[in-house]
Amino acid sequence: MEKLVVRGGKRLCGEVTISGAKNAAVAIIPAALLVDGICIVENVPAIKDVAVICSILEELGAKIDFLDKYTIKIDCSNVNKYTAPYEKVRKMRASYYLLGALLGRVKKADVALPGGCNFGSRPIDQHLKGFKALGAKVSDDPEIEKSGIVYAATDGLVGTNVYLDVVSVGATINVMLAATLARGTTIIENVAKEPHIVDVANFLNAMGANIKGAGTDVIRIHGVDKLHGGTYSIIPDQIEAGTFMVAAAATGGDILVKNVIPKHMESVSAKLEETGATVKEFDDSIRVIGTGTIKPVNIKTLPYPGFPTDMQPQFVSLLAAADGTSIVTESVWESRFQYVDELMRMGADITVCNRTATIKGTGLCGTQVRATDLRGGAGMVIAGLMADGETTITDIQYIDRGYENMEEKFRNLGADINRVNDTRIDN
Ligand code: EPU
Repeated sequence: MEKLVVRGGKRLCGEVTISGAKNAAVAIIPAALLVDGICIVENVPAIKDVAVICSILEELGAKIDFLDKYTIKIDCSNVNKYTAPYEKVRKMRASYYLLGALLGRVKKADVALPGGCNFGSRPIDQHLKGFKALGAKVSDDPEIEKSGIVYAATDGLVGTNVYLDVVSVGATINVMLAATLARGTTIIENVAKEPHIVDVANFLNAMGANIKGAGTDVIRIHGVDKLHGGTYSIIPDQIEAGTFMVAAAATGGDILVKNVIPKHMESVSAKLEETGATVKEFDDSIRVIGTGTIKPVNIKTLPYPGFPTDMQPQFVSLLAAADGTSIVTESVWESRFQYVDELMRMGADITVCNRTATIKGTGLCGTQVRATDLRGGAGMVIAGLMADGETTITDIQYIDRGYENMEEKFRNLGADINRVNDTRIDN
């Protein structure tokens, strides 16, 4: 076990290059199960969740080679298993994509309910609704030794209309995966529009799929017989970029965030400007200049293009040191304020009532805190960078799931942050 030790108060300046998008990578890698041929995927982030999804694919029979640190070659021609290993599936949320991808490929899928960060109940009923509409059934075959939910489409999947009752990133991508090789046309309505949904559709189209409308409210998928191999490069990670942008504002710094798509950052850039930071957009980079004082702002998280829930903890940390009171409302997840208790250990003055946090700006002091989840952990790092004295962050395995070399990237900007062994006896 390791922990991060941050000594706050340094003004962060310089350039940081953003890695490929986690939430695109963890969907595109299982999407390769649908491909008859070799996929080369570039700009893959070197993070724990990618390592886990790659090892699940290998257990299913795929051959995966790293051509370099960020480029993987995936050959799924020998995949014929449909049971995903429970011990790995439970480690990450995105393992639900194996259901759509395996149903598309083998017409059968046995996948346990996924794990991932705990934000209260995280149902996948909309994914299952989509699979059922396409003709998959919960299998009652006594011959099958089940390790999770088993879905089978003995006669193959057939295109249909699917209306999602809630705007869901995962359900949108999963139904799209299952429908790619289905017979006929599938129309999915009320879909999510996040940049990584467009990225997965672009990947599939580059391999021969016929998907239109990703990024709008309605996606149309004309099923094709098979997908061919090809090369595809993943988009930059919108949330990693946002985390460094907040760090610039939090430390009164000046950071050029490189390898971003500024359009994807609009809601974050606008909120940072409201806090008083200067945000300058270039073709594929954004410069954020903090002033040292932070104005309070109100935020409501929403599906894209609204303000992303995955940036909520980082902003709450920033606002904990603002000059006044801010109100942050979480409208995507039922329970995404667990990290607030940790922030309060650092002196933050925050009251959470249901899905709303009222944050009275104050000074933060270093102490020992833990990462309660991936983005909560990023919020702790932001708080540590602003705090007086030393902050120790434990349980950083959550951070490693989704941020590549976070401490090294911060150190290169002038932060005093180090990863050390966590020698706690209760580990
Ligand atoms: N929902 C349902 N039924 C479903 C699916 C979702 O009720 O079948 C509800 C959820 O409970 C939630 C809302 O719909 O209240 C949105 O959930 P969504 O399905 O969009 O979330 P997800 O696909 O499970 C992805 C990201 C999350 C990110 C959310 C929202 C991945 C692997 N995860 O989760 O990312 O918070 O979209 O943008 O793509 C993170 O990266 O830290 C992270 C948690």
